[in-house]
Amino acid sequence: MLTRQDIHQEIQDLQAKLSAPQRRGRLVPYRRRGVLAIPAFKMRPGGDPAVDGRAQTWKLLERATTTPSDCFFYDLEDAAPDQPEFKAFARQFCAEALRQLDFGRRIAAFRPNDVRSAYFEADLVDVLTAAGDRLHALVIAKTEDASEVAAIARLVAQIQRHAGHDNRPMLEVLIESPRAFVQAQQIAAVPSVASLTFGAWDFARLVGGEVRAQTWTADLLALRQLLPVIAASEGKDAIDAVTAQLPIRPTAAPGTAAHDAQAQARLDALELAARDANNAKILGFAGKWLLHPDQVAPIQDAWLPSRERAQAALALAVAYARAAQTGSGAELTGVQLADRAVIGADWWLVEGALAGGVLTEAECEASGIPLAALRAMVGA
Ligand code: GLV
Ligand code: MG
Repeated sequence: MLTRQDIHQEIQDLQAKLSAPQRRGRLVPYRRRGVLAIPAFKMRPGGDPAVDGRAQTWKLLERATTTPSDCFFYDLEDAAPDQPEFKAFARQFCAEALRQLDFGRRIAAFRPNDVRSAYFEADLVDVLTAAGDRLHALVIAKTEDASEVAAIARLVAQIQRHAGHDNRPMLEVLIESPRAFVQAQQIAAVPSVASLTFGAWDFARLVGGEVRAQTWTADLLALRQLLPVIAASEGKDAIDAVTAQLPIRPTAAPGTAAHDAQAQARLDALELAARDANNAKILGFAGKWLLHPDQVAPIQDAWLPSRERAQAALALAVAYARAAQTGSGAELTGVQLADRAVIGADWWLVEGALAGGVLTEAECEASGIPLAALRAMVGA
């Protein structure tokens, strides 16, 4: 029979071995809500790629500096035309834009062509060598398993070292094949991986499903529900797929029926983006891809509580912290239970509000309980 001293020792040994509880984003060095995809080459038919292609593409590349999304990536993969000549220009324009443009506080990334393609080597080596020091992340397409992802992470580190860049960009890994989905946890566990990003379109292509503009969030709910859980189990983020119905501005003459129909379609698309983003946020996604600059506000706002909501969450956390100091761990707010777990779930609102400037650290401190203490007490 164990003595009391033995039990004490066993518990000491157990506790010394425990790792920190995992939660979403614990091991991710940045936050982002909207991830804007920007084609790295686009030209109207018949142009000269070096002149017209450059001018037309550059307008798109500059969206990374004017669109208020937290994060963007230049896309050398599926949004760049699949011709060696155009892919080479895409690579070159991507590197130039990364070098020359000022992205402010945005998270900067690019998506090389997938690891099985003939373009992958030049994409990875040329862009990283020229501009790897400007990147926070690479978006990695169409990998099938964790060993491929780990191999790409090693290559990225080696190329960065060769080029004399000290930073180590993270990997935003698309989960867009059945095998990758089944391996999602091992992929999330690769240290350089920041997110599992749902690639709904390639996924549907490979399983023979469909992505329908109006109903895809519900149609694919089972998959979408799992990714944030799997990512969080490794301290990483999940990022949701695009809402592909775009809020295009009307082109028909004002006052015509065609104009009204276009204006209505635009409003519907904005509403759909907001609805999809809100659903993603509720499921635990940290952000969502987007394609059109006008999708930024409806999408990012899903992760940004109103000031009233954020203040209420902060007040609740402060009340809970005070009550805990004076002897009570579970309170009622109105008719709702407010214990540490309930308040901890709401704490994401406070963090979102702090990140988005809706609340300031000074306001949190003004509660009389230091922010660090609140975080320790009720934060995830
Ligand atoms: C994104 O890459 C997708 O396939 O949906
Ligand atoms: Mg894809």
